[in-house]
Formats: sequence, structure tokens, C-alpha cells
Amino acid sequence: ATEEQMYRPNFHYTPKKGWMNDPNGMFYADGQYHLYYQYYPDGNKWGPMHWGHTTSKDMIKWEEQPIAIYPDKDKYIFSGSAVADINNTSGLGTGKTVPIVAIYTLHDMTKEKENKIDVEQQDLAYSNDNGFTWQKFEEGNPVVKNPGIRDFRDPKVTWDKTHKQWVMVLAAQDRAQFYKSTNLKNWEYLSDFGKNIGAHGGVWECPDFFQIKVEGSNETKWVLIQSLNPGGANGGSGTQYFIGDFDGTTFKQDVNFAQRVEKEKAVWLDYGKDNYAGVTWDNIPSTDGRKLFIGWMSNWDYAQQVPTFAWRGSMTIAREIQLIKKGNEYSLVSNPVKEINKYISKTIKEKSLKGKEKISIVTSEKIDLTKAIVNFDLKNLKQDTYTFTLSNTAGESLTFGINNSDHYLFLDRTKSGKTDFSEKFASTITKAILDGNQEEAVFKIILDKTSIEIFYNNGEKVITEIFFSNQPFTELSVSSNQGIELNDIVINQLNIN
Ligand code: FRU
Repeated sequence: ATEEQMYRPNFHYTPKKGWMNDPNGMFYADGQYHLYYQYYPDGNKWGPMHWGHTTSKDMIKWEEQPIAIYPDKDKYIFSGSAVADINNTSGLGTGKTVPIVAIYTLHDMTKEKENKIDVEQQDLAYSNDNGFTWQKFEEGNPVVKNPGIRDFRDPKVTWDKTHKQWVMVLAAQDRAQFYKSTNLKNWEYLSDFGKNIGAHGGVWECPDFFQIKVEGSNETKWVLIQSLNPGGANGGSGTQYFIGDFDGTTFKQDVNFAQRVEKEKAVWLDYGKDNYAGVTWDNIPSTDGRKLFIGWMSNWDYAQQVPTFAWRGSMTIAREIQLIKKGNEYSLVSNPVKEINKYISKTIKEKSLKGKEKISIVTSEKIDLTKAIVNFDLKNLKQDTYTFTLSNTAGESLTFGINNSDHYLFLDRTKSGKTDFSEKFASTITKAILDGNQEEAVFKIILDKTSIEIFYNNGEKVITEIFFSNQPFTELSVSSNQGIELNDIVINQLNIN
């Protein structure tokens, strides 16, 4: 089989050719979700960064567009964001359509080679055709100068409707910095957050900062999503988050959430190794109101070695992020966007499966496990380990499940096929610690040719990872020593092309 047949995802976004990392500049306008990304079209490793571009009507089926923003010689276009400037606060609009304003990091390779500090600054570009073609704001760039910090990048801009201002968050080495503006062109420093708070195993990158409603109430909170590399939950790149309040100048963690951060060292948006630099979409209509997120489904530990060559890098499934409150505890949950359900072409349902030791749940005769959503509810858990296994006839397997003696979820790709392209790819088993003994465990799992995304208990814990089996997995089974009770099994075939 060709690499295209074996490893091109069925429904996760990949560029036709070349290298891709972080998602950038996502916004919605005129019926389309726009997604830009860190892109090097001429090679399959990281290189001179462009903003690649793709669009979708539903965040599931993507149509690649011409490259949106090109670097100038040695001046790479790094990560950043875009907003719909509805009131033309920037004055960059021409009146026909809402101007789209992108602010990104301009990274100067010449200065980097000279070991200078002021390598990174924030530049602006704008579009007057809903994001298809862009103009660099030559006369006004940079809009944020480098203040003498080497790692100073990845601006994410949002309209703060409470304080009627644009707010920018950016990553400044070991902290997030906040700026404000009335016109997107002049920015004033406000405050910073995060030095000595949360995970600091590596440089902070790609933050996101937004206000969000607590599910089922009118209360709102502010969320800071903060990627870092290395130092992620299970090694390498990872994304943590913080919940609190913003008074227009300063972000302060909620007291209970701060205690949780202290106790757990960091609270993670995803415990898997392959969800990095993710941020949310701008300009989602208020009639919709969702917070929509996508991440880069890879990890700097091995991203440049994964065994695809024509293209490298894919995105996670687009997700809805919600803020829930239990007692006084706030947390984020993530789930696949509902639009994916449109592509269900066949459903197998089973009320319950009971048995001892090993039970087969489904085989490829019934469902193609390279494009499927699998749901089930494990009931009456004992102090035992429940292991789900995806396997093929080549003897390869990907296992995941719940250890209810030591209280964690796990995902093990050590025997999943090609792993030796990097020492770091499968050197450890991924774990997500659970609060304590679980009586029941609800799983939603999204399977593609080279990825698994596990949404546990309605997205309270998420594990996203990639794998490269030499043959497709053809069976899903479950085993445990003390017997299994699996309820509400719903297996959906997806048909997306
Ligand atoms: C994160 C990152 C960003 C940077 C971009 C460069 O993966 O390192 O901080 O802007 O990638 O491609």
C-alpha cells in the first residue's frame, strides 16, 4: 500500500504536501470556518514559515486554499490569530466586507543566527475578502515591538465585550502577557500571568484567552489556555489551562482552581501526547455561541520524524470546549463538534456485552475501524484494569483503558506498529490520573487511520494520540480479570470524502 493509502487520515485535516504545525488565525465568516496553519510547502520538516489556509463549512470536511501569507527572506510568519473587525475599529476595512485582521509573530532568522534577543515582534496583516488574500500592514508594523524578551510570540486577540476593548495575550517565555487596544494597531501592555504558576517544563507558547459562560448558568469566567514545550502532561509538547477572572487589566485565578493547579502541578486540556498549540475560533455567531477549538495533532518530540513523507502533520478533530461547575470547582470539558454526526453512514448498537476475560466488541467485517466513532459505558467497575485493544493480523495493537486500582486512564502505543523513528515516540505509556475509584466509565472514541481521540466521561478527560500501524486495525476487544459489563455500545461508521 502507498503511504497515501496507509497514512493519509480519512477525515483529519492534512495539507496535500509539505510540513504543517500549529493552527493559526481561525475565524468564521460568510458560512465558512477558516483555518490557517504554520506551513512549509517545500519540505517535510519545519522550515520557512508561511500561513497555509483551508476552509470548511462544518469543520470536518476541509478544502485546501492557496497559501495565505508568505514570509519575506529570513522573516518567517509564526503563529498568531485573526479577528473579524466588525466595527472597522482598525480603519483597514474598505466597506464591502468586514475586515479581517490577523496579528502574528514575525520571526527574524538573521537576528536569530546573530544570537540577538529581539528576534520576535508582532505584525499585522489584513484581508478585505473574508480571509482569502492578505495585505501586510507595512506602514504600521510591528504593532508590538520586542521588549527585550527572546521568546515573545503567538499573539491571540479577542474582543473583550465586558470592558469594550481588544485584548491580546501572548507567550513571553515563562508567562503570558496581556495587552489592550481600541484599534488593533496600537497596543498597551497591561499585565502578566503565570510566572511560577502551573507547568514550566519548557517555554510557554500559543496561549488563548477568552470569556466563557458556565454551562447551565449566566455566570462567566475567563480561561487562559497555555501550551508549553517541553513539559506536557506525558512528555514533550502539551497544553494546560487556567480558570479565573479578568478585570480588564489583570487575570486572577479562581481560588479553588488555583488550589487544584497547586495540587496537580497543572491542569491539562488533553493528556495525550498529540494535541498541541490549539486555540479557538473567532467570530462564531452569537446564535451558535460555541467555543470551538482545534489543535495540532503532533508533538515536537518527534513531529519531524513521523513516517509520512509527502506531507507531515495533521489537526485534531475540531472540538467544542465548555466550562462546567461542580460545587465550587470549575473545569473545561472538550468534545468533538456535533457536525461530525452528519457523516455517520451506519450504526451498530448493542444494549450490553457481558463476559469474563476477553470479549470481542467489533471487527472490520462490520465496521471499518479507520473511520469510526465508538461509544460505550463500562459499568460496575471493580478494583481492576479494563483494557481495550485495537489489533490487526500483523500482531500489532493499540491499547487503552482504565486502571481502577491505581486510578488512571491509559493509552499504550508501544506495540502499535512503526515506533522506532524516534526514541521518544513510544517510550512511555500515557496516563491521565483520575480522582479516585470509578464506578462507571463512559467513553467516546474517534478513530482514523493514524489517530485515536478518547473523550472520557463527556470530555472531562481527553487523550489524543497518533500511531502508525503497518496494517489497519481490524478488531476491538476488551479484557479484565474480574469480568466485564459494557453497556450502551454504539459504533458509528463515518463516511467523509
Ligand atoms: C509552537 C511554535 C510557536 C511558533 C511556531 C513556529 O509549536 O513553536 O511558538 O510560533 O511553532 O512554527
